[in-house]
Amino acid sequence: METVMVHAAEAYPVYIGGGLLDRCGELAARHSNGRCAVICDDTVCGLYGPRVCRSLEAVGLSPVLYAFPAGEQHKTLSTYGAILGFLAENHITRSDCVIALGGGVTGDMAGFAAATYQRGIDFIQLPTTFLAASDASVGGKTAVDLPAGKNLAGAFWQPRAVICDTDTFATLPESAFQDGAAETLKHGLIADGELFRFLMNEDMHRHIDAVVRRNVEIKAAVVAEDEREQGRRKLLNFGHTLGHAIEKCSGYRVSHGHAVATGMVLAARAAEALGYGGQGTLKAVLAACERYDLPTACPYSAGELYAAAIGDKKRSGGYIDVVVLREVGRAETVRLDLEGLREFTEAAL
Ligand SMILES: NC(=O)c1ccc[n+]([C@@H]2O[C@H](COP(=O)([O-])OP(=O)(O)OC[C@H]3O[C@@H](n4cnc5c(N)ncnc54)[C@H](O)[C@@H]3O)[C@@H](O)[C@H]2O)c1
Ligand SMILES: [Zn+2]
Repeated sequence: METVMVHAAEAYPVYIGGGLLDRCGELAARHSNGRCAVICDDTVCGLYGPRVCRSLEAVGLSPVLYAFPAGEQHKTLSTYGAILGFLAENHITRSDCVIALGGGVTGDMAGFAAATYQRGIDFIQLPTTFLAASDASVGGKTAVDLPAGKNLAGAFWQPRAVICDTDTFATLPESAFQDGAAETLKHGLIADGELFRFLMNEDMHRHIDAVVRRNVEIKAAVVAEDEREQGRRKLLNFGHTLGHAIEKCSGYRVSHGHAVATGMVLAARAAEALGYGGQGTLKAVLAACERYDLPTACPYSAGELYAAAIGDKKRSGGYIDVVVLREVGRAETVRLDLEGLREFTEAAL
């Protein structure tokens, strides 16, 4: 097992390794001594729910388990409300703990429930997707989607610990693995040229513990500097303005990672065309997406994307900050007004 510390306002560990689900009771007990409510989707519940509960029971953490229907379309206020109801019915108190067992949808929603239930109780992340392990479970962003757009209601709420059993990725469908690959490529593109070149020469599958670890280190470094996304943390949104627009246009049938991959291609193309992006950055993004079979073509028009993008919460006042690559491994934000965003979207296609 490896441990990476995240130095948010209160530091917390990310434990990474194979077989950690069977040790999750022992690891969770380092951070909580109350009861715990395990929240997961129905797919993950069937695969890992009983194992996690057994491990928690063995150390006296008395788990209660709640499963909601899997999928982004259930990352809603209504599911969130049902989770809060479950916590109340089971008399979970402020000295107890929420455990988010699953992918980014579960982590975001259970985290938001923990952030708001009784004005905030502890939570621990047990990510079971490559994407959640490498990105979503670290950094304390929690949210649910609203009909108007993704993640529009949420809170910053850091977990007490993250326990990542990389063996759980063995049951992931290849497309879910690719979602994690997209965010991993993003980390290389914005912050670590060496990681990017490694991913272009090696197969991510074969180095999964090391890749998760590097992802967590990159994200932890950014979060330590800018927990509330006032500056540097915005760089993690590379590919996300238009990526979120693609997700929304598709009615959330296109997954987050796949949409982000296309969003990165679009952002790189627009940035190069408008002179913000370094030459060769589009080529690098395209090659990376092709290597990992991620989609590079957008099925929506500039008008459709623009309409979806202006609802993005990253818009402040009349402006939106988009992330552009200066070179592989180095990104910057560019502030656009709405006319600028329209021009950017047109140049992206
Ligand atoms: N908070 C953040 O910083 C952050 C960062 C990136 C993404 N996100 C959010 O994360 C979400 C995407 O996360 P995701 O891709 O993990 O989605 P997800 O949670 O929906 O998981 C994808 C699918 O895989 C299934 N699954 C999960 N673990 C499995 C396993 N081990 N074996 C088999 N099936 C498994 C799930 O049931 C689901 O159907 C989006 O909502 C996105 O907005 C948040
Ligand atoms: Zn993302």
